[in-house]
Amino acid sequence: MTIKELFDTMEYGPAPESAAEALAWLVDQGDRFGHFIDGAFTAPGDGFDSRNPATGEVLATLTQANQADVDAAVAAAHKAQPKWAALGGAGRARYLYAIARLMQKHSRLFAVLETLDNGKPIRESRDIDIPLAQRHFYYHAGMAQLMESELPEAEPLGVCGQIIPWNFPLLMLAWKVAPALAMGNTVVLKPAEYTSLTALLFADICQQAGLPKGVVNIVTGDGAVGEMIVASDVDKIAFTGSTAVGRRIREATAGRGLELTLELGGKSAYIVFDDADIDSAIEGLVDAIWFNQGQVCCAGSRLLVQEGIADRFHTKLRARMDGLRLGNPLDKCIDVGAVVDPVQLQTIERMVASNTVGQVHHAACTLPENGCYYPPTLITGLSTSDPLMQEEIFGPVLVSTTFRTPAEAVELANNTRYGLAATVWTENVNLALDIAPKLVAGVVWVNATNLFDAAAGFGGVRESGFGREGGWEGLTAYTRPKGKRKALARIEPATGHGTPVDPIDRTAKLYVGGRQARPDGGYSRPVWGKSGLLGHVGLANRKDVRNAVEAAAGATGWAKATGHLRAQILYYIGENLSARAAEFAHRIDAMTGKRGGAQEVEASIQRLFTAAAWADKYDGQVHGVPIRGVALAMKEPVGVIGALCADEAPLLGLVSVMAPAIAMGNRVVLAASEPYPLAATDFYQILDTSDVPAGVINILTGCHAELAKPLASHLNVDAVWSFSSTDLSAEIEKAAAGNLKRTWVNNATSLDWGVDHSKRFLQAATEIKNIWVPYGE
Ligand code: NAI
Repeated sequence: MTIKELFDTMEYGPAPESAAEALAWLVDQGDRFGHFIDGAFTAPGDGFDSRNPATGEVLATLTQANQADVDAAVAAAHKAQPKWAALGGAGRARYLYAIARLMQKHSRLFAVLETLDNGKPIRESRDIDIPLAQRHFYYHAGMAQLMESELPEAEPLGVCGQIIPWNFPLLMLAWKVAPALAMGNTVVLKPAEYTSLTALLFADICQQAGLPKGVVNIVTGDGAVGEMIVASDVDKIAFTGSTAVGRRIREATAGRGLELTLELGGKSAYIVFDDADIDSAIEGLVDAIWFNQGQVCCAGSRLLVQEGIADRFHTKLRARMDGLRLGNPLDKCIDVGAVVDPVQLQTIERMVASNTVGQVHHAACTLPENGCYYPPTLITGLSTSDPLMQEEIFGPVLVSTTFRTPAEAVELANNTRYGLAATVWTENVNLALDIAPKLVAGVVWVNATNLFDAAAGFGGVRESGFGREGGWEGLTAYTRPKGKRKALARIEPATGHGTPVDPIDRTAKLYVGGRQARPDGGYSRPVWGKSGLLGHVGLANRKDVRNAVEAAAGATGWAKATGHLRAQILYYIGENLSARAAEFAHRIDAMTGKRGGAQEVEASIQRLFTAAAWADKYDGQVHGVPIRGVALAMKEPVGVIGALCADEAPLLGLVSVMAPAIAMGNRVVLAASEPYPLAATDFYQILDTSDVPAGVINILTGCHAELAKPLASHLNVDAVWSFSSTDLSAEIEKAAAGNLKRTWVNNATSLDWGVDHSKRFLQAATEIKNIWVPYGE
């Protein structure tokens, strides 16, 4: 094309980035890669080809790891970890900083290699993926530096197994490796089989930075290698990928005492109100769904547009789509590149072909003859129940429907099993900030979309997984509180045959929805103390669990109550308990046969007061993100929390769980101490006189082993905790895989209830939502 012709058409001429340096690097490595274990590359073994999806060309041959490779990587990581941790934060910061500098120095090489391997436009890898990956290392060099002073109670977990997807190969590596290393962990990382090359270049950088051997280990291969890592002797698994695999990993790690974070799929809503700046909202959509060919977990893949502007909006959108340039990803003028692999392309084609409703518009671009390309696509006129409105396509396909009112927009946005992200466009700040808290999502962008930064946590709720990456909140995923853990000792209920202490038969009921309720099965059991029979207690079954969860789920007003009001109620509970302290102390001593009752009651009152104190002070943060404003990290209640309370501390165990949970706006279903349930059943009267709204606190008595599964598998329960002296960790974590609820289980150890763990409970009782709002220039 001549310059004159270009001027006539105003078409962009091609401006391809040279692949020479990246291809030369591959040649230098011999085009065949082994793994990176204990600071060195292993000899290449049997493997598979890594191809450029834009051309189908083979870029390199990679090795499929076997069990011995994974074992060697995990062993190297274990060996290196104590020394790495002992370097101290400042020592580790130097290495993280050196890695960041080297990544920056080799930015171009990383960007081109990423584009060759993944098919994403060079503009994106050059301007987004690679700079953000560097920023993660700089940011976490700082976190390492600050670890001792700012997180004095935290220690590293040990060895972290990290499994990442193919959509942001280097960036996902950075999200996983930087915080892990900063906090003193070592890692065994598996990149996705389609896109391992920048991870191997990163290994090269680790060598150049002089990183101690074994701190970073990288093994390549498919899902079978991922499974081996999950099954290996690691202390944590961090996974990003599909919800189906995430669920499998939850099941495979159940009961093994591993920390787990899952960053899974999404079907994020992109809401456009009728007062939005339409042109900006359309440009936002280009970023939301055509960025990285739509292969983005938080892609704004579900457009919800207000009815009055829908036709105009769709018309403008189609015109904009038709102007998108699709083609050679190395061309700097390209908007849309290649889909990662023929397998993914077929998935997209199959899903779109299976849709029989609505109107489909494919962008008017010409697809290159070879390579994995799919045109930007819009499907309008769908309704919520249509499969494409619910299922993640993970391709450049936008589905759309309309709404009339803000309330309807919220309802439609939340009508999904996912909860990763959402975008709101409106010129009305009141409306945006009214909607943001109502969206069930881990990230909300206002008048912008797909913004990321190391300083702001990223992660979802519901089936989008759990845990956050980035920010202060991301560090908790790579640390645990210091301190020894005591081995769990099962406490059996006492047995006996004496005369009742109280001649009147008193069978304590359950406490459900603010009322005492007979157990559904009608069964009860005697509670014996040293001095004889103390009473009877109801045995709850799965139906009682369901009733209690229903009551808790219905008490939604509590989450909206002010921190001040929640504090007042907690103080009131404490005050009423204090008035009856002697009676409770006596009851505890009678059940346990010990003399710690008075102390336990006093500690319980303290816990209530501490939770009340925090109720209006455990605030979020404002993250200073470098692009487009600020991110408000808001702490929200998790929802309905089911907990099996400690057996050994009948009142303190229950109060220590309940008080911080309700202080943060959660509703609870608590299974009382199994051997010593009567302190909990006496507590109903305290609750009744303390203005606790019905359904906020529900208490069941009975056998923990029977209650664990119904609680952990109930779809309206958002988190399950277990401090029971029966180790039910495996059952709970397995059952929790259903809707991927959060779990906190004791894994055969017990907490020291004499110590105030309120901060840990507050943290577990809250979910952080990052709301990005325009601010300043
Ligand atoms: P995937 O979840 O199968 O793969 C992600 C990573 O997990 C890869 O490294 C893979 O090798 C590994 N893996 C696979 N099976 C495993 C197992 N049983 N145990 C441990 N690791 C395992 O995702 P895939 O198949 O590449 O893509 C399928 C769909 O998943 C996509 O169409 C998309 O909908 C979704 N996806 C979502 C991502 C996200 O960021 N939320 C990222 C990638 C895919």
